[in-house]
Amino acid sequence: MATAAVVETHLPGLPCTRGKVRDVYDLGDRLLLVSTDRISAFDWVLPTPIPDKGRVLTQLSNYWFNRLDLPHHLLETDVRQMDLPAGVDLDALAGRTVLVQKTKVAPIECVVRAYLSGSAWKEYQATGGVAGISMPTGLEESERLPAPIFTPATKAAQGQHDENITYAEMQNIVGLELAEKMRERSLDVYAHGAQRAMEAGIILADTKFEFGLAGGELLLIDEVMTPDSSRFWPADGYRPGRPQPSFDKQFVRDWLSGSGWDKNSPPPELPPDVVAQTRAKYIEACQRITGEPFPWA
Ligand SMILES: Nc1ncnc2c1ncn2[C@@H]1O[C@H](COP(=O)(O)OP(=O)(O)OP(=O)(O)O)[C@@H](O)[C@H]1O
Ligand SMILES: [Mg+2]
Repeated sequence: MATAAVVETHLPGLPCTRGKVRDVYDLGDRLLLVSTDRISAFDWVLPTPIPDKGRVLTQLSNYWFNRLDLPHHLLETDVRQMDLPAGVDLDALAGRTVLVQKTKVAPIECVVRAYLSGSAWKEYQATGGVAGISMPTGLEESERLPAPIFTPATKAAQGQHDENITYAEMQNIVGLELAEKMRERSLDVYAHGAQRAMEAGIILADTKFEFGLAGGELLLIDEVMTPDSSRFWPADGYRPGRPQPSFDKQFVRDWLSGSGWDKNSPPPELPPDVVAQTRAKYIEACQRITGEPFPWA
């Protein structure tokens, strides 16, 4: 059953910082991550939420964390086991809230790309390589790379775009040992995820991981292989030589592009049919990948 969209959460007595999509509550040595139904497009958070989008992101991340054989931050996914303040609406938080180990976040976005898209396509056109890695000549936009590559970026300040860096620059920032662990783990997790996604008819074109340190251990943190941290493309109809449609956000992008909005001022509200179609695509991605019915469908 669809429930009301959650745009912003308020948990009394807990310090909160809000990202574009998630509300993060600090519990001392642990964090509460709440994925809201906010959606961004063309670098703007839209005024209209997509009901249950936050649950899709959370269910997908949880699915991967539980399948992956590596140290990660996830501690609890059941809101009834989180000792939340009395009076909070547990039904609204259920499925979108996780309790995690707080870590010291490594200041690197660990990006893995297997297809030539976005900033990598721009860089390839300008230099013939990606992230300082040379590439075969004559590749087309959205073409599959000979092998997945690791293209780190520095986390940008709010409102700025992440800046791509070379692996050598990453080594200078976090040290040789951590850089190698983060690179290896990112490529391993991507390989696992891309195979599973492909079985579900979804191309995981690229994705971004974050890692953090807690008690001397490197943990996979944040969200994992969700439509917000990755490019999901429908595998049927994949055709290089052009940008690919987004599995999840295409209805939103198409509607916004045709709406007359200039992309430089606050975006308009989405119409209900665009919201409904987009919600259905998010849920479809979740169900296809996890192989389970979506409990809030
Ligand atoms: N286990 C963890 N320990 C410490 N910080 C974490 C952990 N997991 C996630 N985070 C941080 O929580 C924040 C999640 O917020 P969110 O993704 O909404 O915002 P953001 O990444 O800062 O900005 P954006 O809106 O561009 O994604 C991120 O800053 C992420 O690095
Ligand atoms: Mg984020």
